[in-house]
Amino acid sequence: MARQRSFLFCVIFALALLSACSASATPAPTLTAFEQLGQSVFNLRCAQCHAVVPDTVIIGPSLAGIATRAGSRVPGMDAEEYIETSILFPKEFLVPEFTDTMPTNFGKELTSEELQGIVAFLMTMK
Ligand code: HEC
Repeated sequence: MARQRSFLFCVIFALALLSACSASATPAPTLTAFEQLGQSVFNLRCAQCHAVVPDTVIIGPSLAGIATRAGSRVPGMDAEEYIETSILFPKEFLVPEFTDTMPTNFGKELTSEELQGIVAFLMTMK
């Protein structure tokens, strides 16, 4: 009986450990399927120039915190509109201290679903 109980205890302990590990491996915040689509397009098309960790310049500025910053970049433009305009017409507003090296053909290259997915993904970068 005592052996059985300690076996049971071991199993419960192992399960608790396992769930603790898998919980810490889950990225936060959890992305919706649509945001994940945007994330994979971002990784393919944008990540060579834009980091998503703070204070890291590759070629373009880091997009960490862009959802918070975007709403105050251009008067009268909300965050989503600014991000979308930045992708479609990168020359309309240049981030201070950067040159206009961002490609201008994303309007042709991306489907509207991919574009909206990227915007949704970037809106999670508070
Ligand atoms: C060849 C490098 C390059 C690629 C690829 C690129 N960008 Fe950029 N991006 C830049 C540069 C440089 C700037 C800063 C100059 C400017 O404002 O256009 C910028 C600016 C931005 C800004 C404005 C950031 C701010 O703080 O206001 C956003 C948003 C952005 N890019 C999103 C994207 C997205 C999304 C993609 C992929 C679809 C992408 N970029 C692909 C180089 C790039």
